[in-house]
Amino acid sequence: MRTAAVTAVGHFLPEERLTNADLEEMVDTSDEWIRKRTGIRERRILRDPEKATSYMATRAAEELLDKRGIGAGELDAIIVGTVTPDMFYPATACLVQTELGAARAFGYDLSAACSGFLYALGAGAGHVAGGQCEKVLVIGADKMSSIVDYTDRSTCILFGDGAGAVLLEPAGAVGAEGRGLHDLHQRVDGSEWENLCQPGGGSRRPPTHQSVDRRDHFLKQNGRPVFKQATRRMAEASLEVMQRNDLTPEDVDYLVPHQANRRIIEATAQQMNLPPEKAMMNIGDYGNTTAATIPLCLHDWEPELRAGDRLILTTFGGGYTWGAGLLEWAYDDASIDN
Ligand code: COA
Repeated sequence: MRTAAVTAVGHFLPEERLTNADLEEMVDTSDEWIRKRTGIRERRILRDPEKATSYMATRAAEELLDKRGIGAGELDAIIVGTVTPDMFYPATACLVQTELGAARAFGYDLSAACSGFLYALGAGAGHVAGGQCEKVLVIGADKMSSIVDYTDRSTCILFGDGAGAVLLEPAGAVGAEGRGLHDLHQRVDGSEWENLCQPGGGSRRPPTHQSVDRRDHFLKQNGRPVFKQATRRMAEASLEVMQRNDLTPEDVDYLVPHQANRRIIEATAQQMNLPPEKAMMNIGDYGNTTAATIPLCLHDWEPELRAGDRLILTTFGGGYTWGAGLLEWAYDDASIDN
């Protein structure tokens, strides 16, 4: 069976920064509380109302294509993990396809909240492994500022905007035989869905003047149970992947965790017996960018990654959705050599 390798990474972050000091002016909070409870110092915000998730996703894709040295016409598929699509439909993937000029690609959006990127990576790897596609663009992108309630201090401090993208190709086609996505463990449990959701705007509570007055169109979170489940499930899924691939903590080069809270990341690494420096962490600079956190980590650490490095990717999000995957890195430095 063919394995799908990551052969390029791209990213986009809006320039505008929303700092903890800015939030102190907006809600009853403090820089000290936010840093201590979450590890976040600032986040990026895409302020321009004319620009939405597809804009950030397309910029990340363009950077990736440029680094890989290929044109959009070579893409077979585009999958966008997001909970902030430009619209319910058409899918954001269609808007990205047309802006890129990816003339022969099919595409779709994948809704799994913070797990959107990992699930999209699994779907994309399936298209490659099954022989249907040679080049799949997998994007995690969210304009969280479009659904965050900036009067709710328990959620508005957490989220930021951003996009990250990877290209998947058959490992054998790029001289990286045996590398790529080796394993993926995924689970959902909808029984506590109300702890993290955007209740309004869908078919259950279609938008009305009343639903807007009730602020139903904003993200709602009951932080404490989500925190507890995230800590438990990310460690559980990561340990499952380590166990079924016979990996010791020494065999794992990096943990690539969803960036929801510094304390969740540290607890996950600890339960895996990994030293904290093996856990990628950039939440301080970007906050929780939902589907974009994992590819943004891959982007920021790309210069340090070496061919053969074993990465455990792990995630937890609204739904609940969670999972972990084993990705063997395919190249050194900033691009694949072919
Ligand atoms: N500034 C100051 N105080 C705040 C605050 C803020 N921004 N937000 C909440 N508080 C207060 C609460 O009102 C509460 O006060 P009380 O004790 O007087 O009632 C107190 O701080 C503790 O609140 P609690 O919600 O228990 O804090 P916490 O330690 O659980 O931290 C989160 C809150 C949201 C940071 C944390 O629960 C979390 O990270 N949850 C998971 C988030 C997550 O992973 N989400 C996405 C999943 S993908």
